[in-house]
Amino acid sequence: MRLALLAIPAVRSAIELELGRRVEYLSSLPSTQDRARELGGSGSAPLVVVAEEQTAGRGTHGRSWLAPAGKALLASWLFRPAPAEAALFALLAGVAVARALDGLGISTALLKWPNDVEVGGNKVAGALAHATTDGEGGSLVLGIGVNVHQRREDFPPELRESATSLALAGHTVDRLSLLVRLTRELDRVAGPSERRLALDEWRRRATLLGQRVEVLREGRTAARGIARDIADDGALIVGDERIAAGEVRLQ
Ligand code: BTN
Repeated sequence: MRLALLAIPAVRSAIELELGRRVEYLSSLPSTQDRARELGGSGSAPLVVVAEEQTAGRGTHGRSWLAPAGKALLASWLFRPAPAEAALFALLAGVAVARALDGLGISTALLKWPNDVEVGGNKVAGALAHATTDGEGGSLVLGIGVNVHQRREDFPPELRESATSLALAGHTVDRLSLLVRLTRELDRVAGPSERRLALDEWRRRATLLGQRVEVLREGRTAARGIARDIADDGALIVGDERIAAGEVRLQ
């Protein structure tokens, strides 16, 4: 099934029923994240915004998220109340992506702190979360980009060594099936009873735990040492330090 099928009202209704959330599907928009945040005013029901193309896709650390039209799964889910702190939920989203890929027969996904999903040693997906407080449990918008059909030349030259797609890793994946599985897995990790299991799964799939790493914040070294564990709030423990945010690389 193709993502564009969501443009057919009857198909979209069936998927909405299956997912228990409204689906907004657009062929092109600036950013699904911005759109879901815009729609996420108080009282709004659970929803997911999906697009074939973003003209101003957002990545972490203020970067852009680029993907040619029709080649990636680009979606943002609105959760109300917020299931967790934004940083923790973005990390748990990696587990949801890995489990969704498992369900599609791709069992090799690994997780790089904080929010990257890797296949074959390269980044295949990333997550971004924005939380809003409102005195009623707040809301959280979680955006995920999964590289599905890209070829090497679809990535900008500076990303060709570090990024990959499911297709490049040898997997043919239908984006609508991935959307459905991923939504189910996100709802699963959003449940408080699942939290410990999901964190343990994150640890099992972690690429960097037990390794000597360098943590960078705003381009500067913030810590160096062995990445020992993640805390229950998703912070990375490097040596004796708790790192709440940053980028990490092998030393
Ligand atoms: C990262 O930098 O690793 C996080 C990338 C998150 C990208 C997704 S694509 C769908 C959603 N809309 C956005 O503008 N960004 C997120």
